[in-house]
Amino acid sequence: MATAHRASILHFLADPDQVAAADVYQYFADGLLLIDEGKVSALGQATDLLPTLAADIELIEHPNSLLLPGFVDTHIHYPQTEMIASYGESLLPWLNKYTFPTEAQFADEDYAGTIAELFLTELLRAGTTTALVFGTVHKQSIDAFFTACSSKNLRMIAGKAMMDRNAPDNLLDTAESSYHDSKALIEKWHKHGRLQYAVTPRFAGTSTEQQLAKAGQLLTEFPDVYLQSHIAENVDEVAWIESLFPQRKNYLDCYDHAGLLGRRSILAHGIHLKDEEWQRLAASETGIAFCPSSNLFLGSGLFPLSTATKHKVNVGLGTDIGAGTSFSLLQTLNDAYKVLQLRGETLSPLKSFYLATLGGATTLDLQDVIGNFGIGKEADFVVIDKSCTPFIDYRLRQCQDLFEQLFVLSMLGDDRAIAQTWAAGVLVHQRQP
Ligand code: GUN
Ligand code: ZN
Repeated sequence: MATAHRASILHFLADPDQVAAADVYQYFADGLLLIDEGKVSALGQATDLLPTLAADIELIEHPNSLLLPGFVDTHIHYPQTEMIASYGESLLPWLNKYTFPTEAQFADEDYAGTIAELFLTELLRAGTTTALVFGTVHKQSIDAFFTACSSKNLRMIAGKAMMDRNAPDNLLDTAESSYHDSKALIEKWHKHGRLQYAVTPRFAGTSTEQQLAKAGQLLTEFPDVYLQSHIAENVDEVAWIESLFPQRKNYLDCYDHAGLLGRRSILAHGIHLKDEEWQRLAASETGIAFCPSSNLFLGSGLFPLSTATKHKVNVGLGTDIGAGTSFSLLQTLNDAYKVLQLRGETLSPLKSFYLATLGGATTLDLQDVIGNFGIGKEADFVVIDKSCTPFIDYRLRQCQDLFEQLFVLSMLGDDRAIAQTWAAGVLVHQRQP
């Protein structure tokens, strides 16, 4: 059945860094979004569209709200939900002390299913409707995750971690078994409804050259699946990877040599990349997930967004749960702004909300499917309550224009601001009063 949502509506048409401001976004102070069969069928001024509505359309009013496309998280680990806020370490000790023991529990598919439900509840409470998600080494972690996503008809991308060295024995696969397990998951889940598969070598530190080559083989055999991994997150990590792969030119070359770069490849972090690596990312159209909350939490460093922009490398936002400390992309924007301030760079509110929506979708090569309210796109959206707390209500009323309002939302907003989350036109989260 068709539905119409009336609210203030904002969506993006282009990257504010690439296009003149007038062509970057559309804003309807009193807008109407029409949805038919889970897809956008019209968008415009409420006063123009209301008289044209068929008599049987359900009209839903969202007073004092801002309706935006659903947020897109380009890097997150669902099995790390329960270990968010683990104290006091940098990347490599943190992996050994907290992450690996936590991930070992996902050998149990029932356990994985319980955490997958908890994770999705938090994601939807935060207004995130699409994410690129790491599982654990266990094939069943992805069966559990995709089963949970399927029942909610979410657009999600995920993959089983491939890791055949430098982790506890109970978290290791082999080059051969990781190939067969990943292949079986692709055949079972890729393009099953709105689900897509990502080949997931965890990072060069936990994969042999043979395993990276197997990941490359999967990308050749299944050219439309994704590739996700980590790169240049931490100075000690970079030095360690260079010592593990003396035959490669640099960190990125470990992946490049195995054929892992491309339009559907997304590498998390990229804080400590060399200029030649940025050039190769650009030439190969590989995207980067900028994870400011995680980078601050683990003391990894400050991401150079202007370098990515200069090289025209696609960038999306990632929470990187459980090194990140919030599921909320609004809170992630807060951290992103502060990281860039420390670098002497800036992040405009328009660029912020572009990154959280169409920018993330573009980094995931989903710009024709989600990310804004273009006709025919999947109707994934959030309803932001502008009076979600007495203070946010007060502060937003001091704002002179939309630009200021967006900045305040990105500094003060979090899951409390998300009144509702909708996926393919269906309500999947309703905030409790
Ligand atoms: N590098 C390899 N594995 C991980 C992980 O789980 N989290 C983060 N932040 N970095 C990684
Ligand atoms: Zn990560």
